[in-house]
Amino acid sequence: MQGNAMLQVEQLNQYYGSSHTLRGVSLSLEKGQCLALMGRNGVGKTTLLKCLMGVLPVADGRVMLEGRDITGLKPHQRAALGIAYVPQGREIFARLTVEENLLMGMATKPGKKASAIKSEVYELFPVLREMLQRRGGDLSGGQQQQLAIARALLAEPKLIILDEPTEGIQPSIIKDIGRVISLLRERGDIAILLCEQYFDFAHALADKFIVLSRGEVVAAGTQEQMDSEDVKRHLAV
Ligand SMILES: Nc1ncnc2c1ncn2[C@@H]1O[C@H](COP(=O)(O)OP(=O)(O)OP(=O)(O)O)[C@@H](O)[C@H]1O
Ligand SMILES: [Mg+2]
Repeated sequence: MQGNAMLQVEQLNQYYGSSHTLRGVSLSLEKGQCLALMGRNGVGKTTLLKCLMGVLPVADGRVMLEGRDITGLKPHQRAALGIAYVPQGREIFARLTVEENLLMGMATKPGKKASAIKSEVYELFPVLREMLQRRGGDLSGGQQQQLAIARALLAEPKLIILDEPTEGIQPSIIKDIGRVISLLRERGDIAILLCEQYFDFAHALADKFIVLSRGEVVAAGTQEQMDSEDVKRHLAV
């Protein structure tokens, strides 16, 4: 039975003009699992994530959330169904305060008030509580990444999609982010799709992985199978 996978992607194809960017990509992800999406620069990772969020159309193939076909839905409809997306480069609102950014994560919830920001967010990211009135653009890159993840979590997603959360971030904050992803995974009620080029980080967090090369899945397997020459050949490491 595939019907109960949190996310099921079947034979996705996508083109930018005449360039065939995703080639028959399939994957599945269960609740409580973390799937690492790996691959070098430019292989189509972000393109795949944008297709899953509905930011980009797909030429053919299917995207299923808990057995429901969502391939034709708009991004806001997917968000309402429980998909949260933390884009590459974070895309927080630089001119809004940290608190206002967090409230944006609750935009789909009625009566959004600062008091309703769940304390869990501050437990996961204590630094944000200290910086509530600071402008997003004045945070460090790592703090902005934490803010973007916190904002996504406030939507109480079933599936969180993270596009290279460690990119350009200092080691101490990478550790903090890793700890949060690990806690979310242990909670067991959310599925995590982690796009990542930092092998050790992905290896420590993932239950399973897929590797893309030129838009195609060239390797896939369990966490134990990740640490192989065959996989590393396709990565930047
Ligand atoms: N809007 C676009 N129009 C045309 N081509 C694009 C567009 N966005 C990306 N591409 C191309 O599609 C390919 C896949 O890009 P994508 O951003 O998905 O790669 P990526 O695996 O996320 O790379 P990175 O690790 O650098 O983030 C690349 O060759 C890229 O140049
Ligand atoms: Mg990318």
